Amino acid sequence: MENVLPPANPQANLRNYQETYQTFDWEDIAQEFSWHQTGKINIAYEAIDRHAEDPMRSNRFCLIYEDEHRKERITYHQMRDLSNKFANVLKKLGVKKGDRVFIFLPRCSEYYIAMAGCAKVGAIFSPLFEALMEMALRERLKDGGAKVLVTTPRMAARVPFSEFPDLNHIILVGSGNIVLRPGEVSWEEEMAGASYDFDIEWMDLEDPLYIIYTSGSTGDPKGVLHVHRDMIGYLITARWVLDLRDDDCLWTTSEPGWITGTVYGVFAPWLCGVNNFVRGGRFDLEGWCRSIEANRITVWYSSPTVFTRMMEREKDIAQTCDLSSVRHILSVGGTLSSEVVFWARRFFKIPIHDTWWMTETGMIMIANYPGMPIKPGSIGKPFPGIVAAIVDEQGNTLPPLTLGNLAIRKGWPAMMRGIWRDETRYQAYFTREPWYISGDLAYEDEDGYFYLQGREDYQIKVDGVMVSTTEVEEALRRHPAVGDAGVVGNPDAQRGTAIKAFIALKPGFSPSAEVQEEIREFMRRYFSPRLVPKEIEFRPEIPRGRDGMVIRRSLKAWALGLPG
Ligand code: WT7
Repeated sequence: MENVLPPANPQANLRNYQETYQTFDWEDIAQEFSWHQTGKINIAYEAIDRHAEDPMRSNRFCLIYEDEHRKERITYHQMRDLSNKFANVLKKLGVKKGDRVFIFLPRCSEYYIAMAGCAKVGAIFSPLFEALMEMALRERLKDGGAKVLVTTPRMAARVPFSEFPDLNHIILVGSGNIVLRPGEVSWEEEMAGASYDFDIEWMDLEDPLYIIYTSGSTGDPKGVLHVHRDMIGYLITARWVLDLRDDDCLWTTSEPGWITGTVYGVFAPWLCGVNNFVRGGRFDLEGWCRSIEANRITVWYSSPTVFTRMMEREKDIAQTCDLSSVRHILSVGGTLSSEVVFWARRFFKIPIHDTWWMTETGMIMIANYPGMPIKPGSIGKPFPGIVAAIVDEQGNTLPPLTLGNLAIRKGWPAMMRGIWRDETRYQAYFTREPWYISGDLAYEDEDGYFYLQGREDYQIKVDGVMVSTTEVEEALRRHPAVGDAGVVGNPDAQRGTAIKAFIALKPGFSPSAEVQEEIREFMRRYFSPRLVPKEIEFRPEIPRGRDGMVIRRSLKAWALGLPG
């Protein structure tokens, strides 16, 4: 196999990576925003209203939504009106700048309207993944101090409302004929009665925009805080990494409950004013391919698990779908194997461009650009304006081909501004000045390409989503039969990594297939389907060191069938 692939598109928006990297200045990008002249700052204005006022863009689709039952198209012009209406609904409920509005919905048009409306009133929104269950929701709503929750009647059943006295209002999407309880309002009724006009709340660049929860390496999820200034990073990465142009139709397959869905599924394409496609419902390869064909998707941002499933079913798809509209493909969230990159080059006639970033970085940090040669297996080179390095325990930079911690010089526009209500955890990322420490192990080659080598902590990637093994352990321990639990990631053909749990039962319980299933059901019901262990093995005891920490080395050895 070749080690270096030529640039996929020499005509890309970013023509000369090296030169741009050397001359880049964030200030040049800031000048593109209307606030640079007017002083009036709000990401929703730049992402929606600005295009609605521009005859060239007002009739493009900021949302082409489809699932098995619904097909909807919303232009930038219509989105301005709808988000104004929703901003008025929030205002009527007493929502003010800085209040937290949690959005707990399946993917649907209302999700997007809600995010935009929140930004317009200056509220901090928090998107919640639709599969979260009672206990996982409780942690997030409590930590975030939610004032309003936007959800559906079906999903609301999972929320223990009585525990949240500050949660004043619940906006129910699709409430139909149900009888509303005190505090509940109907989305449809409120929207119908709300005005199309709204005076946008003008913000400071440093004012919070959203809180998105991600797994922490030590238990509870953490609320990563992002601000309006992020927009500078969203716009320029969308232009140079996603290579978006006026006539593109982008599909970012991640949902808004995860950062990729919020940034590259909503704000980044909107800032560029392009057509933006969203498909709701579960993953289904045939349906997804039909969506690409029917909507003539040109830029596709997805994940290694999706590409791998596609590769396995290549023949079936090739016969039924025409995917020739796709001109640029990107990946994030997990290891993209060289095999898949080469497969795509044969199947799509273009390679897949891997990108690396994190919830905390807010925007793409390291990437393969369509105008730059690709080294398959590498996550690429740092984005212009981003200084990346491999550092040791003291924060010294290490020479090429040496394994260390992947670090980014702090201070880029979309960097998280805090961990909600947890300054200590925030500071833990910045202990080695001047670096933000990612926790990913990596090395750099002599040409400046970076290669990931896994996490240094207890996080694993399941289906492209970060899962903390300690979070799973703590959840498992809440089951009445579980005395102790230890969790590791096991390589898995389908999911990249699968959760394997070792469980020591409490006295009086004995191992059985029923107990296993009961524990799985408990995780599915009260936490999240993504935290359900694929394999459960019972052991008399879980190995713990003198500090009380699970000895992961022993668990790994057990998982591999070696003596622990
Ligand atoms: C972690 C961040 C930001 C969207 C992804 C989910 C892993 C990220 C890659 C890649 C292999 C990757 C890292 C990182 N990761 N990109 N291209 N190849 N691993 O964000 O849930 O905050 O997870 O995802 O380990 O630290 P997230």
